[in-house]
Amino acid sequence: MPGTDAKASNLPVHIAVIMDGNGRWAKKRGMPRHKGHRAGVKSVRKTIEYAAQRGIKYLTLFAFSSENWRRPEDEVSKLMALFVDALQREVDELHRNDVRLEFIGERDRLGKGLVRKIEKAEAHTRGNNGLHLIVAIAYGGRWDITEAVRRVIGKIASGEAAAADIDELSIGSELQLGGLPDPDLLIRTGGEQRISNFLLWNLAYAELYFSDTLWPDFDEQDLDRAIEFYVQRQRRYGHTGEQLGAVEC
Ligand code: IPE
Ligand code: IPE
Ligand code: MG
Repeated sequence: MPGTDAKASNLPVHIAVIMDGNGRWAKKRGMPRHKGHRAGVKSVRKTIEYAAQRGIKYLTLFAFSSENWRRPEDEVSKLMALFVDALQREVDELHRNDVRLEFIGERDRLGKGLVRKIEKAEAHTRGNNGLHLIVAIAYGGRWDITEAVRRVIGKIASGEAAAADIDELSIGSELQLGGLPDPDLLIRTGGEQRISNFLLWNLAYAELYFSDTLWPDFDEQDLDRAIEFYVQRQRRYGHTGEQLGAVEC
C-alpha cells in the first residue's frame, strides 16, 4: 500500500510525465525499438489507473515531441499506428473509469485517422469527472508558446485586446493547457535530466523528479516514490522558508 496517504492533502494535484527509455528497454532485450514503445503502453495504463487511485486530479503524459518527427520514418509511423491502436483499445475502459481524456500538440501534423480517434475520444469522455488525462502528441513547449503569442497578437490586431493589458494570465490562458493548474510534479524516467521542450511555461515551479527506471519498467512503486519525493519538498515560490513557517520533517 502507498505510504503517503497520511499526507494526502499534500499530494500533487497535477503530475506531468516525460515517458523516456522505451528504445533502450528494447535494445537491452535485443528487440527493435518499436517493441519498447509497445511495452510502454502497459506502463501508461498502470500509471493512469494508479494515479487515479491515489487521487491525482490531472495527469499529463508526453508521448511524442515536436522533435521526435526527426526519428527514422519507420519508427515514427509505428508510433503513430500505436497511438491509433491504443486509443481504439483503451478509450472505453477509460470512460468506464470516469477518465476525461484530452490531447495537446500540433494536431495538423497528425494523420486524419489519428485525429478522428482523438476527437472522438475527447467528445466521448468530455463529461467525465474523474482523472483528467492529457496526452501530449506532436507537442513542443516552444511551439505552444509561439502559438499562444500568435493568438494574443491576433487579438491585439483585431482590437479585442490592448497590448498594455497583456499579462502572464492572458498568455497562459492561450497555451495548450489553458486554464488548467500548472503541473506540481514533473517525473522523467530513463535517466536523462532535461526538459526536452516539454511544458516550458507551465513547469516554471514544478518539482523535478528524475528516475533511472526505463519507462516500460515504471510501476506503482516508482510512482509512489515520486509522490513521496514530492511531499517532502517545501514549495517556496521565491519566499524564504521562515516566511512559510515551515515545520521540518
Ligand atoms: C520515449 O522513449 C518515447 C518517445 C520519445 C516516443 P525513447 O524512444 O526516447 O527511448 P530511448 O530514450 O531511446 O531509450
Ligand atoms: C522526450 O524524450 C519526448 C518524449 C518522451 C515523448 P526524447 O527521448 O525525445 O528526448 P531527448 O531527445 O533524449 O531529449
Ligand atoms: Mg528518449
